[in-house]
Amino acid sequence: MREKWGSRWGFIFAVAGSAVGLGNIWKFPYVCGMNGGGAFVLLYLLCVLLVGFPLLLAELTLGRAAQSSSVGVFGKLTKVRTLFSDCVGALLVIGGSSLLLFGKYGYGSCVLIAGIAFLALGWRTLGYISGVIIPIVITGYYGVIGGWTLLYMGKSFMGQLNFSDPAGAGAAMKPIAEASGNMMWPVLGCTVLFMALCAAVCFSGVRKGIERWSKVLMPLLFALLVVLILRGISLPGAEKGLKFFLSPDFSKLSANSVIAAMGHSFFSLSLGMGIVLTYGSYLDKKENIVKSAVSVLALDTMAAMMAGLAIFPAVFAMGFKETSGPVLIYEILPAAFNHLPAGWVWNGLFFMMIAVAAFTSEMSLLEPPTQVLVDEFKMKRRNAVTLVAVICIALGVVCSLSMSNWDRLPEIRDFLLTVWDGSISPSLFLTLDNFSCNWLLPLCGFMLSIYIGWIWGARKALKEMRIGTKGGVNGNLWLIIAGIRDTAGSGGRKVSLFSLAVLWGFFVRFITPAMVFAAFLNAVGL
Ligand code: PHE
Repeated sequence: MREKWGSRWGFIFAVAGSAVGLGNIWKFPYVCGMNGGGAFVLLYLLCVLLVGFPLLLAELTLGRAAQSSSVGVFGKLTKVRTLFSDCVGALLVIGGSSLLLFGKYGYGSCVLIAGIAFLALGWRTLGYISGVIIPIVITGYYGVIGGWTLLYMGKSFMGQLNFSDPAGAGAAMKPIAEASGNMMWPVLGCTVLFMALCAAVCFSGVRKGIERWSKVLMPLLFALLVVLILRGISLPGAEKGLKFFLSPDFSKLSANSVIAAMGHSFFSLSLGMGIVLTYGSYLDKKENIVKSAVSVLALDTMAAMMAGLAIFPAVFAMGFKETSGPVLIYEILPAAFNHLPAGWVWNGLFFMMIAVAAFTSEMSLLEPPTQVLVDEFKMKRRNAVTLVAVICIALGVVCSLSMSNWDRLPEIRDFLLTVWDGSISPSLFLTLDNFSCNWLLPLCGFMLSIYIGWIWGARKALKEMRIGTKGGVNGNLWLIIAGIRDTAGSGGRKVSLFSLAVLWGFFVRFITPAMVFAAFLNAVGL
């Protein structure tokens, strides 16, 4: 018997827990600030609605309809091999063989193997890539950041995070980021601890583990955000930060901002990697999928906005400048908080908030591979979680050791250099990040939307979505915007041209795949 979520909110918090992560907390506020603040927020909301929402709905629906892992889905509702998957396979085989002919042995054999897999296993290949390979690759480096965050939280509460400027913070961060010197064992220990705790939650099962902890951790996360926002905006000079984050400056928007907003909406909702699909497969038929998807979307967007409100007022009020990436949360912000009375409390709470956000995301990454092992290889859940966790922890440790450069892992570097035939990122951490987020995720998202929109078919998806939604899917967009209650569509008989159902079908078949593909082309620099 397949395990089911215990309650609607338990499910919503679990999906939102996956969605709300490091992407919301450091990436969104920063990208926002650099792309014209409020202008980017508007753009992002548009992308979330146009790309994120249709795909989120689609993945949930597919998961619930098939009641199966991300591999088992393919073959349950349609044939495992279709003309499309054969064409993809054939193209990859031709492409891979040509690469081999031109001496690109690394790329060539990877592409060739993928092609043969598509020809032999059909769509299930997509399931293995999106539900096993991507989550394992991402856990490997996500866990490293999780480990740093745990370490920082502990240090802060022990009063050891006491530098007063970003330079001091940078000096303290360096050995941690590199896992070098006397910080090597604490960093590795925290990374392993972080990942082992996530595995322990998954170990207890869907309802007793993931759901129970999400229901505790997500409210805690939002409570911490509210406390930090109140602290931030009550500081003198906070308005400069608010202005930086929120005032719309449309002149800073470019074509690149559009693509950035799209790629981020995709990553932020954890789409394209079998997570939402797997979580959807534990859903009961009587649940309203559309409502749940709207709630997840709202929570994820809210968390991103709240993170910006918690970070920028404090940074600007303390007279620091915004900077990019990990530096912002590990160097600038701790220094800024240290200027406040009881700075260690604020730092501690801040890192606790990030740890919680990263924790529920990491948890969700362990679930799709686990479920594949359970469903496809008939393993016991506990053995499956243990196996996945051991692989991920090993990858995390290796990743952590390669943070600064490849010096400690020359063999792996040399191996990758032969496979990649050329340049690779300066560390395993960045290599995995680049490979999964820029290449695999958008490609899988694209294939998944094609599968749902065309192969399984938007009509069948709608039929599944309607179970449990009581006519909500048939709502008419214009009537809703006009504030007029829709009665004509209920019952699912009359479908007007502008019903939400028709819009969704149109999006999932045409707009979403096209936009995801555009984001992919941009991410790989074409
Ligand atoms: N959605 C998460 C975030 O915003 C990122 C994530 C990606 C989480 C993949 C899990 C899996 O940070």
